[in-house]
Amino acid sequence: MDQPFESDFLVIGSGIAGLHFALRVAERGRVAIVTKKHAAETATNYAQGGIAAVVDGEDSFEAHIEDTLYAGAGLCNEEVVRFVVENGPRAIEGLLKWGVEFDRTSANSSGSPYDLGREGGHSQRRILHHRDATGHEIERALLARIEAHPNITLFENHCAVDLLTAHRAGRTEPDRAIGAYVLDAAQGNVTRFIAPITLLATGGAGKVYLYTSNPDIASGDGMAMAYRAGASVANMEFMQFHPTCLFHPEAKSFLISEAVRGEGATLRNADGESFMTRYHEMGDLAPRDVVARAIDSELKQSGEDCVYLDITHQQSSFIRERFPTISQRCLEYGIDMAQEGVPVVPAAHYCCGGVRTNLQGETDLPNLFAAGEVSCTGVHGANRLASNSLLEALVFADAAADEAVRRVSQLPPCGEIQSWQHGDTIESNDAVVITQNWDEIRRFMWNYVGIVRTDRRLQRAARRIDLLQEEINHYYWNFRITPPLLELRNLATISDLIIQAALHRKESRGLHYNLDYPERNDSDFRRETLLQRGVPPRSAPAQN
Ligand code: FAD
Ligand code: SIN
Repeated sequence: MDQPFESDFLVIGSGIAGLHFALRVAERGRVAIVTKKHAAETATNYAQGGIAAVVDGEDSFEAHIEDTLYAGAGLCNEEVVRFVVENGPRAIEGLLKWGVEFDRTSANSSGSPYDLGREGGHSQRRILHHRDATGHEIERALLARIEAHPNITLFENHCAVDLLTAHRAGRTEPDRAIGAYVLDAAQGNVTRFIAPITLLATGGAGKVYLYTSNPDIASGDGMAMAYRAGASVANMEFMQFHPTCLFHPEAKSFLISEAVRGEGATLRNADGESFMTRYHEMGDLAPRDVVARAIDSELKQSGEDCVYLDITHQQSSFIRERFPTISQRCLEYGIDMAQEGVPVVPAAHYCCGGVRTNLQGETDLPNLFAAGEVSCTGVHGANRLASNSLLEALVFADAAADEAVRRVSQLPPCGEIQSWQHGDTIESNDAVVITQNWDEIRRFMWNYVGIVRTDRRLQRAARRIDLLQEEINHYYWNFRITPPLLELRNLATISDLIIQAALHRKESRGLHYNLDYPERNDSDFRRETLLQRGVPPRSAPAQN
């Protein structure tokens, strides 16, 4: 029988949320972090634009709150927005304490030391950044601390399969989280990671779409695991499409930061027209849902493959200095940003929905916390304001850490838990089933459940996902599990949740646009969409 790994805190995921939480709670107990690839392979590591926070005397909490509420299209929880925004400066202090460096300038009239960027939907310059590789800098600094910490053990290439709960362990007490079954990808063994407190920090689900800015890890595992364990999942219909991903046959998932538009770049169609002013008074800096839909509409009208992002009004020295990663990558594809427009298209970028949490970051499964993109805290509503996600991840990882530390010593022991049973499953010799199903899901999600939806397309997608889920479940129960099979199973669950939520919302709002109901309907749908296993989708007032 395998030996379980026991700790006080189990953290699943090594992006900003997981690492920040781990560093905070490690002062009070032993922490295990499991992460399914190399530790730095996270969305955090690819974040470009930066982190929004009020750190400038000419800015205000009220302005940041108002911008967030406006972008969220009537669905943000105002109390949560205020909580996140007002904790912004403290969150930045936390990052500075871990050794993160942000770009500075002496040119601000307000006296703020930081070089602040601007992005869509922000009325002020308020984005702290490290050139155009802010996430890489954050991941670097946090991982260095984690690796040096005596109370933290990091398990790379360990993929969480499912949550352990009291009920799953066969007990009749009120249910609670007590860890997770985790697959060691190299050995093929499933180990019990047992802990009285578990944090889900598994990031987003962009890989459910054919085109995405997300790294391969973003297969929605945490959301799917929480749903299977009985926790509520909210607002899955709101998938954010980033307007500007590089359009090039060899470029996989490469983002062109919105900060480029923040420095004056404009979107042009194939006729050279700077078209965004036709769609919104904020022009190129309109909220993301508006810009992505505008590009989609331009492309559908013209039949072209892409639009162009033009920053040629800036000096090439400025472009190289401010956007070194982006300009270098473009050059590798033969595109000189200083001389020509960059071909761009929208791609799936951020999941505004996720596992429902309260203000302490706790889900409705006791002792299961969630922070970062896996969660739905109420801050983003129907459309996330740019650069609010790193901020939200930090603030909620902090809140969860405070509550977890307060509670951990009072919790009863986790008790005996059965080891993983492989049963009579066999090795699969038909891996093509996985790639075929994976491709099929991502393609119909893109075509039927994308930027512009209709009921008929959603129903088509619903029929397909039902069939595929049946096939995938059969495969899951009969063959030895592997990381690709686990991810496929989770992708199918997430697709199903997105489709169910999208069919439930009979209106258009924020990121959910349905041609059959093109108007916003505040009287019936100014509510969250809640999904819980075994219960039909329902609307509920945003609460905390
Ligand atoms: P992640 O950083 O994605 O980390 C998730 C972790 O969970 C990974 O370690 C992964 O391996 C692990 N994991 C997943 N499933 C399992 C499993 N089953 N078992 C074990 N481990 C698992 N936001 C901003 O605010 N500002 C920006 O400038 C910005 N730019 C972005 C640019 C890009 C290209 C992308 C993709 C996103 C960007 N975002 C930005 C969004 C932001 O980066 C993410 O929302 C945020 O980093 C998510 O952090 P996280 O800790 O929740 O998850
Ligand atoms: C970007 O740099 O455009 C991404 C910002 C974000 O997703 O918040």
